[in-house]
Amino acid sequence: MNRTAELDVRLPGRAIAYDPATPAHSLHVRAADVLEANWTGASTVPSRGLYPHQWSWDSAFIAIGLRHLSPLRAQTELETLLDAQWGDGRIPHIVFNPSVPLDAYFPSPDFWRSSTAGRAAGAPRTVQTSGIVQPPVHALAAWLVHRADPGLSRGRGFLARIYPKLAAWHRYLLHRRDLGGGGLASVVHPWEQGMDNSPCWDAPLRRIVPASARSFRRADLDHGAAEDRPTDLDYGRYVRLATDYRDRGYADGPGAFAVEDPAFNALLIASEHALARIARELGATGTARHARAERLTATLVERLWEPTEGMFFCRDVRGGELIPERSVSGLIPLLLPGLPRDVAAALVRTAGGPHFSLGDTTRLVPSYDLLGEAFDPHRYWRGPAWFNTSWLLERGLRMYGERERADALRTAVLDLAGASDFAEYVDPYTGEACGVTGFGWTAALTLDLLHSDTSAIKGGDRG
Ligand code: SER
Repeated sequence: MNRTAELDVRLPGRAIAYDPATPAHSLHVRAADVLEANWTGASTVPSRGLYPHQWSWDSAFIAIGLRHLSPLRAQTELETLLDAQWGDGRIPHIVFNPSVPLDAYFPSPDFWRSSTAGRAAGAPRTVQTSGIVQPPVHALAAWLVHRADPGLSRGRGFLARIYPKLAAWHRYLLHRRDLGGGGLASVVHPWEQGMDNSPCWDAPLRRIVPASARSFRRADLDHGAAEDRPTDLDYGRYVRLATDYRDRGYADGPGAFAVEDPAFNALLIASEHALARIARELGATGTARHARAERLTATLVERLWEPTEGMFFCRDVRGGELIPERSVSGLIPLLLPGLPRDVAAALVRTAGGPHFSLGDTTRLVPSYDLLGEAFDPHRYWRGPAWFNTSWLLERGLRMYGERERADALRTAVLDLAGASDFAEYVDPYTGEACGVTGFGWTAALTLDLLHSDTSAIKGGDRG
């Protein structure tokens, strides 16, 4: 594919449906500016300073916003990521940009050594990547990107080219990563689930002997306040787990850390539904995939639903027990069509109840239990509110007919993203910006909510 010719697209590439004098117009322009500033030529960085490469689930969320500006650029974002897919089907969580200095981000390509350590698992030779994965939002993103401009998508054979790659990705997760043997995918590192220092990992991580702080240099603290970031002890454990996985040649099997997470699996199921729609668009029936998504939904409820708490919990695969911590991850399955009615109703109640207080003392959903002992309103995934989780919950609320709550959450995303200068995350009580500003998915999901139709989502399929 001739990328240079294809990428000659300036933003914004599409007409805006509202009055240029309105606040919505200025929010649109500011969000588009963030995505323009973070664009590298073939993909978008989450943040120029803190995350200067391509991240897997960030790119999926970014493509969902980019489709409103340039469907071509949105397709390219996903294609660039999928070009770095490994032979065993895994989509790496980071695709490194070779022109960024090694010391700009830790762990850098010389830590992961993908093209040598990952050879048996089929790591690509021409591009350096990490060896772990991130939540599978990609098929959902691909479907939404297709829907933004089906003519362009068909003309470029977008879905036909990426369908086999997405199918291989899901196969990898459902087969190689079914470490609990119950039909769900496990994550083998907190970075894989994406909520790095969630208190859900505290107990399983206690088993891990941390790597010595002298054996690595964190680059994140050059860009973010230390009190907003994971601790050095967390990093020591992250490094130990990643080193051990690398030294096993990234082979999957029973390891020291394996957790079944509700958000990771819910996103896999939502993406499986999207893959069914993609299959249908390509001429197949998609029925088997929809049926599989429904079976997986039943498995998710069976394995991770905690009825007395009205939410989903993580399962520690090593000991086999549920982890009694309330994370936003346990509310995210609300985005799945076909949940039992009592489960969906309980999730809505829990989101508005004392532990998350949505629509009461918080406007965006906090990442962790407001009443939990480990709650910290500023420290990464231990309390702050993130925009992607609120975007996912907004879809679920709308799909289950909770229109007022969905509208309020949509408005909160737009207000707080704009007021925080598209912060990475915010204090859930005050909306104060935490982490970095000008963050890719915050800008992208703002655009998506600005442009999306707020009428009901049919079967999780708001285009
Ligand atoms: N979120 C991790 C970081 O902070 C890696 O994915 O770098």
